[in-house]
Amino acid sequence: MAKLIGPKKTKTAVFISGTGSNLEKLIKYSINKTSPIKVSLIISSNANAKGLEYAKLYNIKKKIYDYNKKKFSEKKTLKVLETNHIKLICLAGFMKILSSNFIRKFKGKILNIHPSLLPKYKGLKTHERVIKNKEKYSGCTVHLVNSKLDSGKIVLQKRVKLSKKETPSSLQKKILKHEHRLYPKAIDKILANP
Ligand code: GRF
Repeated sequence: MAKLIGPKKTKTAVFISGTGSNLEKLIKYSINKTSPIKVSLIISSNANAKGLEYAKLYNIKKKIYDYNKKKFSEKKTLKVLETNHIKLICLAGFMKILSSNFIRKFKGKILNIHPSLLPKYKGLKTHERVIKNKEKYSGCTVHLVNSKLDSGKIVLQKRVKLSKKETPSSLQKKILKHEHRLYPKAIDKILANP
């Protein structure tokens, strides 16, 4: 009997530098039969990133590069992306800035998740700044990556209400839960309307 083969999944690389909770959610989502992606590569800028544990746990190829030597690392990264037929890159807590040359090679195929309602609060320490400014709402954004920090086209956003006693740490935890749901939805959206 002929083997039933499902629709081809888009081979995806997830770039991390730290905890990797978004990475784990993306892996779990990609394992789902109906998911349009397969996470087949993990790239880390940090050899001690906790998220690298998921490479072993889920049997996914991993590579660690020192992005302080940017030109060299990006060259190596491009090569490994090509060898592994990667067509989509998801940045998930990746703390390095990619060069415009690298971004051009994957134009429209690099996504990032940021813990604020962009274009507000680009960059670091978003939750501290949101609380200091007494905002009523914050949230998270999945966007396409262009050569300017946290500035590419917005794919999806989720608004989150701050509580009266919100701290940077409680807000970070609250928003992270929403990030975990938003990233898969944004991938579905971008792959349905490339
Ligand atoms: C997330 O808050 C993400 O929005 C930001 O970095 C954090 C990464 O968390 N870019 P994790 O490593 O996925 O747990």
